[in-house]
Amino acid sequence: RGRMVEMAEAMGTPHALAIPFPAQGHVIPLMELSHCLAERGFKITFVNTEFIHERLIKALPEDSNIKNQIHLVSIPDGLGPGGDRSLRKLCECIPSAMPSDLEELIAKINESSKDKITCIIADEYMGWAVKVAKKMGIPQAAFWPANACLRALLVLIPQLIEEGIIDANGITRKQEMIQLSSNLPVFDTTQLPWHCFDGLVMQQTVFHHLFTNNQVVKDTDWLLCNSFYEIESSAYPLNPNLLPIGPLLAGSRQRELAGNFWPEDSTCLSWLNQQPSCSVIYVAFGSFTVLDQTQFHELALGLELTGLPFLWVVRPDLTAGQAATYPDGFQARVAARGRMGGWVPQQKVLAHPSIACFLTHCGWNSTMEGLSTGVPFLCWPYFADQFLNQAYIYDVWKVGLQLNSDDNGIISKEEIKKKVEAVLGDEKIRTRALALKEMAKNSVSEGGSSMKNLNDFVEAMKGK
Ligand code: UDX
Repeated sequence: RGRMVEMAEAMGTPHALAIPFPAQGHVIPLMELSHCLAERGFKITFVNTEFIHERLIKALPEDSNIKNQIHLVSIPDGLGPGGDRSLRKLCECIPSAMPSDLEELIAKINESSKDKITCIIADEYMGWAVKVAKKMGIPQAAFWPANACLRALLVLIPQLIEEGIIDANGITRKQEMIQLSSNLPVFDTTQLPWHCFDGLVMQQTVFHHLFTNNQVVKDTDWLLCNSFYEIESSAYPLNPNLLPIGPLLAGSRQRELAGNFWPEDSTCLSWLNQQPSCSVIYVAFGSFTVLDQTQFHELALGLELTGLPFLWVVRPDLTAGQAATYPDGFQARVAARGRMGGWVPQQKVLAHPSIACFLTHCGWNSTMEGLSTGVPFLCWPYFADQFLNQAYIYDVWKVGLQLNSDDNGIISKEEIKKKVEAVLGDEKIRTRALALKEMAKNSVSEGGSSMKNLNDFVEAMKGK
């Protein structure tokens, strides 16, 4: 530990201000990073938009103790009460609406508290906050919540444009299969992550948002991501300065996190306690994914057909446009072995010995969580980076199988049964999944690659 660090510590507590993009899959990992820093002596101010802040507070359990650990505050997103908060609106509005409020908030904290803000950690999607930090002379870090391969793709955008593969708005001009480096997923240039959004305007908005922010944060003091070196080592040479510090699991949720948008139902854990070891299919689609009613029915019937116990997270907004309705008689038929319900403590669920496999939409957080618990995957990606994550799981790490749609674009009940049986019967997949679990654990243990990166970051932020 350097003299600078000791001097800085003598001067006061390091105080990090963390600011996530207002979406569930962004708030959770940044909250986990915040807890890691709090454990290392940082004071944390966690800034959400007002809209998200209210949701988090409503979702907190009554006996929540979170305020003693993390200071939760909010600023407006500029969209007004009841405003349209679609991804497009958020991308368009936030970068102009939030900077002055953030500056004011920091100035107020610095005037009123002896612990001034000593660093700002901004989600890369909130690149404008890095600019605020620079303007105010505060050390800053950007946080990338997805995989390093996707980030490498953003770094290489000028090259893709120059080679005529995409145009300046991110729209594909040449169909090709590309691989950015060996051991990284191969992907189709007509299926880049921003292409899955409806309509050209939306695709261009998301493309510009990702690319602009990638440029904004490229010379930030620190660039962190929720991944670990060993699983995608060839992506790091393409990502100057990117430091993997994951998997960020905040002690597998042994402590309270305050990052959920929905109240958590922990009673599923006692239900899991009653299930045989390695028998339960855990089904969850993260916070965004929607299924249409036909697909929802087919999934229900597929789970029934497997004959196995299952725990299925059915968010209130999982089915597009209307409340989910189950097939006739389904609930009664599966009552003895199936559990459908609200938001669960996913990390604890995945770590439970009764879980046999994880049917997932392949969000990056879910991918990292499944990987850290050694659970084989069944991949059902929906949009954005999830197809790339599926390619990692299926083609590169080989720790799961993909579910394929039929000619009508439906994943049939027979396909679900077939793939559940296949993944559970595949010893090689299980062995590889357990090996990755070990690798994940090592990376965040003392001496591991992610732990070392996190410690370097902490020391530097304490020393500045
Ligand atoms: C989104 C994108 O889909 C994802 O691909 C991107 O990388 C981050 O933002 P989301 O769709 O919500 O996130 O999926 P995911 O990244 O998997 O995050 C979901 C989080 O919610 C996970 O941390 C998971 O543990 C948590 N979760 C989910 C629960 O805690 N309980 C649940 O019942 C379901």
